[in-house]
Amino acid sequence: MTTSVRVPVGGAALAVQVRGDGAPILFVHGFPLDQSMWAHQLAGFSEWRRIAPDLRGAGASDAPAEEYSMARYADDLVMVLDAVGAESAVCCGLSMGGYVLFELMRRHPERVRALVLCDTKAEADTPQGRQGRDELAALAEREGMVPVGERLLPKLLGRTTQSRDPELVETVRAMVLRSPVTGVAGALRAMRDRPDSTALLGEIRVSTLVVGGAEDELTPPGVMRPMAQRIPGGRYVEVPSAGHLCPLERPDAVNEVLREFLTSL
Ligand code: MLT
Repeated sequence: MTTSVRVPVGGAALAVQVRGDGAPILFVHGFPLDQSMWAHQLAGFSEWRRIAPDLRGAGASDAPAEEYSMARYADDLVMVLDAVGAESAVCCGLSMGGYVLFELMRRHPERVRALVLCDTKAEADTPQGRQGRDELAALAEREGMVPVGERLLPKLLGRTTQSRDPELVETVRAMVLRSPVTGVAGALRAMRDRPDSTALLGEIRVSTLVVGGAEDELTPPGVMRPMAQRIPGGRYVEVPSAGHLCPLERPDAVNEVLREFLTSL
């Protein structure tokens, strides 16, 4: 059974997809995307309860003018878990979704049963990266999402997808273009200000799977593999012919790895 619920989180209401019964898995999307990036994972895993919110400022959730930070996103997730009656969940986050999960681990570790980190990194932004966030937020506010999409799209998908799957390129383009500008600017400033999480890696005590696309240029294997090695018991899997959005680009391969991990818990 699929239900769409709206969860009030203080100053905003989040749109949340909830599918099936069983032990909960929480899927946290990347930037500037929404929960539909998990379509193939939500469609599978029928013995699990799949919970996929649009973060504040994304998808069909409200996009307030202010109040964007990793802490705020993480606290919102706790309110989502409370609203659906989940004490804890296997938490699966991609890229910015991973940054939010690091914050969730810091603030509410008891809500995280196990971790899946897809195409993400623990390091904070460099000074140059922070400046880039400000420039992109200003561009979004000045000119809207079209030029933002033009800049980001080539980096979101791997070269194999870009050359062989024009339909998926258009799906992701549409997802980017429908993102509310307020939420996009808020997310960019929240990412700019996020803390470094490398010290946290060695303190993670839950089972952790790290999954990344072999063609990911934003968080390449050279970043993902060492991150997994710093997590006690962390396992790294590289997905061939996939870029930054490997759960959308190679859903069968990602679902197989995820299934194996979930079975091991
Ligand atoms: C994402 O996919 O969430 C973004 O690439 C994260 C980032 O820009 O750091």
